[in-house]
Amino acid sequence: MSSAPLLRPAILVVSDTAAADPSTDKSIPILKDVFSDDGAGKWSEPLFEIVKDDVLEIQRVVRGWTDSENEATNGGVVNLVVTTGGTGFARRDFTPEAITPLIHRHAPGIVHGMLSASFQITPFAMMSRPVAGVRYKSIIITLPGSPKGAKENLQAVLKLLPHACLQAAGQDSRAAHVGGVKKLEKEAGVGPSTSGGATPATSSATAGPPATTGGHDHNHHHNHDHDHSHGGGGGHGGHKIPKAHTTPSERPQLQSNDPRLGATARYRSSPYPMLNVSDAVSKILENAPSPIVEIRDVSPDLIGYVAAEDIKAAEAVPAYRASIVDGYAVIVPDKATSQSIKGVFPVASVSHAQASSLPPPLQKGQIARITTGAPLPANANAVVMVEDTVISTLTPDGKEEASVEILTDELVEGENIREPGSDIQLGQVIVAKGTQISALGGEIGVLAAAGIKTVPVHRKPRVGVMSTGDEVTDVTYDGALSGGMIRDSNRPSLLTLLRGWRMCEAVVDLGVARDTPHHELEHKLRDAFRLHELDLVVTTGGVSMGELDLLKPTVERALGGHVHFGRVNMKPGKPTTFASVPVKGSSGTSTSTSSGGRETRLIFGLPGNPASALVTANLFVLPCIQHMTGLPGEGAPRVKVRVQGRVRCDKARVEYHRVLVSVDPDDGKLVARSTGMQRSSRVGSLASANGLLVLPQREGYVEDGGVCEALMVGMVLGY
Ligand SMILES: *[C@@H]1O[C@H](CO)[C@@H](O)[C@H](O)[C@H]1NC(C)=O
Repeated sequence: MSSAPLLRPAILVVSDTAAADPSTDKSIPILKDVFSDDGAGKWSEPLFEIVKDDVLEIQRVVRGWTDSENEATNGGVVNLVVTTGGTGFARRDFTPEAITPLIHRHAPGIVHGMLSASFQITPFAMMSRPVAGVRYKSIIITLPGSPKGAKENLQAVLKLLPHACLQAAGQDSRAAHVGGVKKLEKEAGVGPSTSGGATPATSSATAGPPATTGGHDHNHHHNHDHDHSHGGGGGHGGHKIPKAHTTPSERPQLQSNDPRLGATARYRSSPYPMLNVSDAVSKILENAPSPIVEIRDVSPDLIGYVAAEDIKAAEAVPAYRASIVDGYAVIVPDKATSQSIKGVFPVASVSHAQASSLPPPLQKGQIARITTGAPLPANANAVVMVEDTVISTLTPDGKEEASVEILTDELVEGENIREPGSDIQLGQVIVAKGTQISALGGEIGVLAAAGIKTVPVHRKPRVGVMSTGDEVTDVTYDGALSGGMIRDSNRPSLLTLLRGWRMCEAVVDLGVARDTPHHELEHKLRDAFRLHELDLVVTTGGVSMGELDLLKPTVERALGGHVHFGRVNMKPGKPTTFASVPVKGSSGTSTSTSSGGRETRLIFGLPGNPASALVTANLFVLPCIQHMTGLPGEGAPRVKVRVQGRVRCDKARVEYHRVLVSVDPDDGKLVARSTGMQRSSRVGSLASANGLLVLPQREGYVEDGGVCEALMVGMVLGY
């Protein structure tokens, strides 16, 4: 055990004062001493940082330490984060509010341990509001702001933390429990009598009177030496009575706003990291489930499906030797015999293309009438064109030729014959794996020709579209609009777009989810996934800052899902949100299952502005659906276009500027014309846009006639 790698602690000082002048900080050296003196050699040198009393700053630093995607910790996350400061009742004390959303699993026991130790020292313990819990593989604990209070609290729990840290980091708990609680207590250096880890250290090296049990005379350690002023209010020294009687699911989690709190409690700026477009698309493709394979009939309903395997011809085309002309099947004599084909021959039989059986074999000295595409009689080895013959005699009824004279002697063996398999060989790959069955007819035709009746394809996703918000009014509403009501254009618009892609098994109209009651969105999403068995739901509205964003809290709090991103650095479409939620596996008819019978279902939260919604649907939902359909997920095709009129770029964001792309009749090149004002709420500019000009993030303009990249979201029509 002693040779185990050291645990990594980190100290975050939350203090406006210390952030402005780090030399005023006293906590870091004191807490470092606690780790080295009381840590039983289990802790490495702590990382530390000082931040202002700012929710986002606190979260940024803590996430840097706890989230493995971050490299601030030089590989490997921190095992224990302790914050100090901001746990009191002053106006700018909100460390617990910053930490709580980060906590995945709460640890009221640690809070209780710290409090009960502190209560033995001072009743001011109740004047602090600590929280503790686990985020990913790290434990986070908020200590009070006074160096002394922080020290005592940390000492109270530190010895018990290595075990918890190892568990949080993923150690097999059964292995750790071999030997039972007694062994753990022994390792931690505590006994059962010192309840709840209340073993205030009897450290010899560090300052302060020994805070042994029953230190009743330390009655105001906690409020007299607070170094990190929060602008009044005081009382940061002690601890609080925790809200320990709520269940974890009732508590705020993760980063989303708690919709039960009022608008003033919401974040002023989004706590979600800002991704660029390509990173956002990568996140989508990483999280979108891969499609499962199913067998479908070859029919026009196969449009849009992607072949899951190489599809090989079941029959050769043609399946038999066929004539490519109208004429007479003949037996061309072997060259060596120097016999002539020229002359008069009796006509033995007739072979029609529509014949259901092969004609009888041809005898030497006979010929057989044959039509284009008809099977050659056995023994025949060439066809002489009707033009190279004349009728010699007719049958007694005068309706058919009895004998025919062949006028040419230049016919060679194999002439005018199409060999079996000369169009498509038996077993030849006719539709390669990954090919999407187009609406142009070619793939279906070749499959039918080669005798393929069913094909393995990737299952198409089932998708739903929902609008959100109290102001959104269905198009079917007959009354006049009043107040802030707006017609819901996004839903019909997105339903149309999705259907037009032909990559969804179903495109379901999920209606409007009102903001009130709050649970309507949750219920609609549950229904979407369970009842309608949808793989993906696209919502619009309610994701911008300043709007009531119910989506993220519903995903994180009610559905146990994960928000992969909540902001994208683009214009329009910045608040675009992408999340996944686990759904218990259904009867097995649904998409790919992750481990444990759980399936991943996806949610896109697109902005409510109609133009933003369509742009982001093309940029993010399209590659996702392509991926789920078995395509690479490359999104709309990218082309170079010549820009007509100059267009201003945005120096802060990549801009997707709606354009009409057409072909210049003079040189056949693609030209892009702006469709007018680009304000993101403007619906009109969408009407004729078949392309999105990708304006690079920079100062200045793309000049008239300049070449720029565009995404083709529709067809290029003629000129
Ligand atoms: C997006 O951001 C990542 C860093 O997260 C960077 O590596 C990449 O080059 C960026 N892509 C674009 C297109 O700006």
